[in-house]
Amino acid sequence: MSSPALRLCDLQFSYTRRGPRVIDIAHFALDAGEKVFLKGASGSGKSTLLGLISGILSARAGSIEFAGEDLAQLSPARRDDLRASHMGVIFQLFNLLPYLPVAENILLPTQFSSARHRACLEHGGPTKEGQRILARLGLDPALYWHAKTRDLSVGQQQRVAAARALIGRPKLVLADEPTSALDSDSRDAFIELVKDECAHSGAALLFVSHDASLAQHFDRTVILQELNRSAA
Ligand SMILES: Nc1ncnc2c1ncn2[C@@H]1O[C@H](COP(=O)(O)OP(=O)(O)OP(=O)(O)O)[C@@H](O)[C@H]1O
Ligand SMILES: [Mg+2]
Repeated sequence: MSSPALRLCDLQFSYTRRGPRVIDIAHFALDAGEKVFLKGASGSGKSTLLGLISGILSARAGSIEFAGEDLAQLSPARRDDLRASHMGVIFQLFNLLPYLPVAENILLPTQFSSARHRACLEHGGPTKEGQRILARLGLDPALYWHAKTRDLSVGQQQRVAAARALIGRPKLVLADEPTSALDSDSRDAFIELVKDECAHSGAALLFVSHDASLAQHFDRTVILQELNRSAA
């Protein structure tokens, strides 16, 4: 048995001190290399949970073990470092820099993290690796590498966001509704490519959606309302 890539214990979170508890999870673990589908209704707390795991939000109680550290005990700056070095996050609203070219958006993690820069050097360098991933996701680098990100369609921007998350072989990939702008054929192809890239680099994948039909692509499905003791 490999050790888990991620382990949550008694994790609690609310946005305000007196506000409702949005997350209350006794236990959840993701094995190294495992690909898990996290399903949940709109408003059930999926993006909030990914915010906690990626260290953007601070837990109010409990632990989030990742890469030998408990994120709940770390400063926000140290959590930012861990995320930059070891996590690839595809945000629900992409968080791309629209005025920059596609290339600069994809290469950003390799500029923030020497670990991710080094991982690219083993495969021909950041540009070669970024272009390889972009091509795998169905966007021809000859046409799109230098394009302004805001000139791409929403579905194309979603693929740029995925390439940015995958570059530099992060240990954990978190994907928040990354297929919402894709038609069903491109959606299935996109999921298979993200899974292939994760398998290629040995990354664990936590893929979030409310669309139950996507569950077939994954090793295991977890329903957030069943995991979360605070669910209505
Ligand atoms: N910044 C915030 N401040 C206060 N409450 C918030 C904030 N963000 C989310 N919430 C609340 O937390 C709950 C969970 O929201 P979250 O965005 O995690 O749901 P979700 O499962 O990702 O939904 P969706 O499928 O619509 O993306 C909701 O009740 C929401 O109103
Ligand atoms: Mg959400």
